[in-house]
Amino acid sequence: MFGLFKKNYFLGIDFGTSSIKVVELKLHKQRLNLSNYGWIKLGFAQSAGDFDYDKKLKAYLQALVNKMEPKTESVYVSMPSFSGLVSLIEFPDMKKEELDQAIRFEARKYVPTSLDEISISWDIVSKKDDKAAKKSKSKTSEKIQILLVAAPKDKVIKYEDFVKSADLKVKAIELETFSLARSLVGDDAGTFLIIDIGFRACSIVLVEKGVVKVNRNIDAGGNEITDSIAENLNISKKRAEDLKKQGKDFINSRESSIVLPTLDLIANEALRIISTYKEKNSGSRIDGVVLSGGTAKLKGVDDYFSKALGIKTIIGDPWKKIVYDESLSPIVKKVGPSFSVALGLALKGVEEYKRS
Ligand SMILES: Nc1ncnc2c1ncn2[C@@H]1O[C@H](COP(=O)(O)OP(=O)(O)OP(=O)(O)O)[C@@H](O)[C@H]1O
Ligand SMILES: [Mg+2]
Repeated sequence: MFGLFKKNYFLGIDFGTSSIKVVELKLHKQRLNLSNYGWIKLGFAQSAGDFDYDKKLKAYLQALVNKMEPKTESVYVSMPSFSGLVSLIEFPDMKKEELDQAIRFEARKYVPTSLDEISISWDIVSKKDDKAAKKSKSKTSEKIQILLVAAPKDKVIKYEDFVKSADLKVKAIELETFSLARSLVGDDAGTFLIIDIGFRACSIVLVEKGVVKVNRNIDAGGNEITDSIAENLNISKKRAEDLKKQGKDFINSRESSIVLPTLDLIANEALRIISTYKEKNSGSRIDGVVLSGGTAKLKGVDDYFSKALGIKTIIGDPWKKIVYDESLSPIVKKVGPSFSVALGLALKGVEEYKRS
């Protein structure tokens, strides 16, 4: 088998609630080419009583992968943001070995279960002068900011198992928080707020100079909007979903009260994150808001957030650095921001490859 799988191909898999999305990139002469892509609608939900969920998911993944025939067997996969925890903690400057101990100790405050059941990783994201400490002539005036990331080990194992069932191997697993930041902001200077609205959940990520600083998740998404449309207009869910996808403007119409509760919930959480960030970092500002996920395609949703947050909001384009055949333009445009996570994952592969 050696040599059969090519090193310059990178595969990302996003296990979304409503669909699995897969993308493969090829790095060729410093350019990122779209090698392969695909998605499969799940059409079944993970509910408490559904013991067959894992089995079904594996069957769907296998079907999709068999059809796509990716060039590489190593994959980058994500876990939903809400299944993990991201927190920014400050420590006085200390040696790396001491830091490891200190962080594990500190992590206990954030993680409700035993640390044995949690997989933890961390990164130094910045050093800053602590003015208060300096005034008091303390020796350790420098503080370091650590981004702590924790995820339950059993979840990690579960995703590895899904991937294995499709004869693929997990190269790395990360919270989708980081995939979003990579594909939508990358190393753009400035501070951006990403709002990914999917089927079931919404993930809000504050990214400063390319580094994730805050992540909050709320239970609000496209499914709730569809339910509300169906209920209020007294139509089937299928019909409600179709209306949404046909581009009917619910936001700027007499029916705005149907979709606004969900959007207001998200906007209010975003406002809270922004105001906390400004309080902690005086003089700072948010340069832009970037929408992602399938619900970013809801008609008028960018204008809604521009007004609600008072910050210019755009629909994110995770494809902007990818080269693809012109004939694919319509489809790429159609899927657009739904592929932010999958592309961010494949881009992680590219980053690791370039570094090695
Ligand atoms: N053109 C469109 N207009 C409005 N909504 C859309 C459009 N296309 C897709 N959606 C909605 O996007 C949602 C799916 O988004 P996405 O694929 O990002 O979710 P997911 O990743 O499967 O779910 P989650 O991230 O919550 O696990 C669905 O609720 C769907 O109705
Ligand atoms: Mg998603």
